[in-house]
Amino acid sequence: MVLVTGGTGYIGSHTAVELLKQGEEIVIVDNFSNSKPEVLDAIKDITGREFKFYNVDILDKQSLSKVFKENKIDSVINFAGFKAVGESVKEPIKYYYNNITGILVLLQVMREFDCKSIIFSSTATVYGEKNPIPYKEEYPVAITTNPYATTKLFIEQILKDTCIADKNFKVMLLRYFNPIGAHESGKIGEDPNGIPNNLMPYIAQVAAGKLKTLNVFGNDYETRDGTGVRDYIHVVDLAIGHIKALEHMKNSNAGVQTYNLGTGIGYSVLDIINTFEKVTATKIDYKITERRPGDIAEFYADASKAERELGWKATRGIIDMCRDTWNFAKNKYMNN
Ligand code: UD1
Repeated sequence: MVLVTGGTGYIGSHTAVELLKQGEEIVIVDNFSNSKPEVLDAIKDITGREFKFYNVDILDKQSLSKVFKENKIDSVINFAGFKAVGESVKEPIKYYYNNITGILVLLQVMREFDCKSIIFSSTATVYGEKNPIPYKEEYPVAITTNPYATTKLFIEQILKDTCIADKNFKVMLLRYFNPIGAHESGKIGEDPNGIPNNLMPYIAQVAAGKLKTLNVFGNDYETRDGTGVRDYIHVVDLAIGHIKALEHMKNSNAGVQTYNLGTGIGYSVLDIINTFEKVTATKIDYKITERRPGDIAEFYADASKAERELGWKATRGIIDMCRDTWNFAKNKYMNN
């Protein structure tokens, strides 16, 4: 059985769907700190399958132990964690406490129940600002620009040290690039609390009339049109990446393995705006503003290691990403 922590969140819910579609038995743990209980029904609707759910905070060791006691868990996919970059700068203690304590409690409980396989959601941000693009897994990790990213970096190290100490422990570090899009059913997707920080949810809310104008953070970068370039990846492709990583981990020797999950293709902010407008027949009102502090001009993945070793490659393109984002967002923001 696979434990999915944070399984009602954006990436967690899409991964839960793919696991269930594969016939895996899963148990989801979430405390709805940044998600809603309706997601559980949506996962059931999409897959037609049942699964176990516990409303538990992974920092609550006693309750988490109960989950392990009541289920035969052989691997964990850990999505639980805070992820808002701006908030992490304002409230570093909250971020370090939650994200680091969360993994430590989880590892303690896993050890107690002899569960020795974990997949961890890391981020391309760990490559920092100095590495050449495209980013390769063997590059050194670098100084991060915000506490959120630093929690990811620290947790990577915690997991590496755990593998050094326990020769039977298996870890898959998956470094995500920029996940966007939604499940094609439109039943699950990204629904951030408050004003979105990230580009795609912001665009979706402008298109839906919920927000007025998109700020494009700088058009004087050294990129082809001056705006920032990122490796956007469809969240369903990303979710399938976890299925492949899980299969691979089952057949691997112990130790840490690291994979980029990206497409290898970079799109600029203007590319995204133009494609979104074309695909959805909407108009995105935008203006060029100052650069956002901490942003990098351009990065994208070298995604060849995952293709070679996991047999995984993103197949959904930018048109699918825009269409599926809109399919979810228009239901969400325009019907109620
Ligand atoms: C951000 C986080 C990163 C995190 C990732 C999760 C920062 C500095 N980095 O990545 O740590 O892992 O989200 O998905 O926040 N943009 C605009 N206007 C907007 C929003 C964004 O022009 O309103 C631009 C940005 O300048 C950037 C691109 O769009 O060039 C993508 O931004 P975003 O979606 O926030 O992702 P990242 O900054 O790459």
